[in-house]
Amino acid sequence: MDLMQQFTDYESQALAALQSAGTAEDLETVRIEFLGAKNGRMRDLQGLLGKATKEEKPLVGKRFNEVKEAVSAALEARRRVLSRPKSAASDLDITLPGIRPRVGRRHPLMQTIAEFKDIMGRFGFTVVEGPEIEDEFHNFNALNIPEDHPARDPLDMFYLAAANVSAGGAGAGGAMLLRSQTSTVQIRVMEQTPPPIRVISIGRVYRPDVIDATHHCMFHQMEGLMIGDTVNMAELKTVLRLFAEAYLGHEVTLRFRPSFFPFTEPSVEVDMSWEGMRGGWVEIGGAGMVDPNVLRAVGYDPEQVSGFAFGFGMERFCMRRHNIQDIRHFTNNDVKFLKQF
Ligand code: DAH
Repeated sequence: MDLMQQFTDYESQALAALQSAGTAEDLETVRIEFLGAKNGRMRDLQGLLGKATKEEKPLVGKRFNEVKEAVSAALEARRRVLSRPKSAASDLDITLPGIRPRVGRRHPLMQTIAEFKDIMGRFGFTVVEGPEIEDEFHNFNALNIPEDHPARDPLDMFYLAAANVSAGGAGAGGAMLLRSQTSTVQIRVMEQTPPPIRVISIGRVYRPDVIDATHHCMFHQMEGLMIGDTVNMAELKTVLRLFAEAYLGHEVTLRFRPSFFPFTEPSVEVDMSWEGMRGGWVEIGGAGMVDPNVLRAVGYDPEQVSGFAFGFGMERFCMRRHNIQDIRHFTNNDVKFLKQF
């Protein structure tokens, strides 16, 4: 039917013209051409309706109304699109605040470890590692701690149930335990390396202490060992002071108190000045000249070489630098705390 075909042609041409109208003015031109009340093509089509036969009329009329509605609706839709502000039309509003991606960060203790290694590296110390599960030989015997020494008391150590420990561990045969000090690593290094030696080892140690603001059952120590022909106590004090000042970024006074460790002679306990802290001092660890018995146990000749060693608690340095009041913050895993570093 010719008339029906004309409707279809009109419809597709009108819809295409509306779609390609890029501005409100274009749209108005298209509207006048297709829907204009005076000379629009819709009006012409309407005029043709009269030519339809009586039987055709209901069908043709229905189709005419459909086309008219479709084109009018398309005109309105296009008008809405063109009237939107430009930026919204492209779904990009550059004035909206951005969304910050959440970035994780390294744990403060991991940052401290990296910094300790860096500082000691500048003094010529290389980094070595040792196992956290130790045998009694490395934790005690080789460090000159005799069988009946109170330091071996099971109440002061985390011994492992024998059934949980696979046989082995150098020089083992005896009980195994979570190391209570990183001094064990000194032995492992000297067993395998001839002097001179300049190493540090940083890692976890375990003690069944009562937990409070400054004590934990697990903490980190930095162990240092320097062996050579003429290593002496004055060098020990200088290295420790330079290290503390490099890490804290300002002058620190270190205080050396005579003490006793089975593996050093003489031995000292080391305090650092801490203004505002009760008494003005806080203990940071032990140190001394490596005991000749220890040198002998690893096959060195105490007549030929000497050395110093030290073991520092790492958390207290980190706490002092960042003014952290409680050692438990390090392990509570509270993001509000961790975010600050
Ligand atoms: N291992 C000792 C402790 O955990 C600290 C220590 C003292 C380490 C003297 C040393 C040292 O290397 O020579 O209490």
